[in-house]
Amino acid sequence: MSQLNMKRIYLYSKFERFWHWVQAVLITLLLVTGFEVHGVYTLFGFEQAVDIHATAGISWVILYVFIAFWLLTTGEWKQYIPTTKRLLVVMRYYAFGIFRGEPHPVQKKREAKHNPLQRLTYLGLASVLIPIMLATGLVYYYYNELALNDLGLVANLHVVGAFLILMFYVVHVYMTTTGHSVTAHIQAMFTGWEEVEDESQVEDWERADKVDNVTTS
Ligand code: HEM
Repeated sequence: MSQLNMKRIYLYSKFERFWHWVQAVLITLLLVTGFEVHGVYTLFGFEQAVDIHATAGISWVILYVFIAFWLLTTGEWKQYIPTTKRLLVVMRYYAFGIFRGEPHPVQKKREAKHNPLQRLTYLGLASVLIPIMLATGLVYYYYNELALNDLGLVANLHVVGAFLILMFYVVHVYMTTTGHSVTAHIQAMFTGWEEVEDESQVEDWERADKVDNVTTS
């Protein structure tokens, strides 16, 4: 772990923390009830699982509209502009460096709070996978009203998407434990404040490695 001094920066606003945790609860409910509906196990009972699933699903559609509005109006969508700059370095860090106690290769900043790998992942989720889940879920929900006679493609997409969301969920929860302490990232998502290395303390040889840090502009 790094010997550098730390400073606190404000990363996550109140609304961001609110939607993060509401979304976490909804996705957990959707995964648990969705796989029950799929027949993997019995927990709530089929009928109740379907009810909880539909309620959580519709709540998520509504929340998603608010999140999209917030991202667009605050300009925070820029945090998700994809970049390949330092992407390989970050991937290498999570594959090897992290197990050798190396410092994270990308410094978090208020205006660039996601590393290049997070940007790609979150952009893919927010613009492809989640819309697919919401849309296929809605078609499922309004199946009778839509008078469709075959749900095959929609159902398959919904289930494949569910497995992808499950994969993201597992990796995401693991990643939350990889801050400078096991709970640092999780605490930051509750308080808004995260401790990061104080750049003024960065040694010259490290600064050379940090000059091309990701920025939003
Ligand atoms: C994390 C997101 C989600 C996951 C993991 C998930 C998972 C699942 C799974 C595994 C099934 C069973 C599919 C089958 O066996 O054919 C299912 C069914 C369903 N899902 Fe989702 N889903 C999610 C989001 C949504 C959303 C956002 C909605 C609504 C807007 C929704 C509405 C439905 C409906 C209506 C069904 C059919 C229930 C029934 O058979 O009566 N889902 N979901």
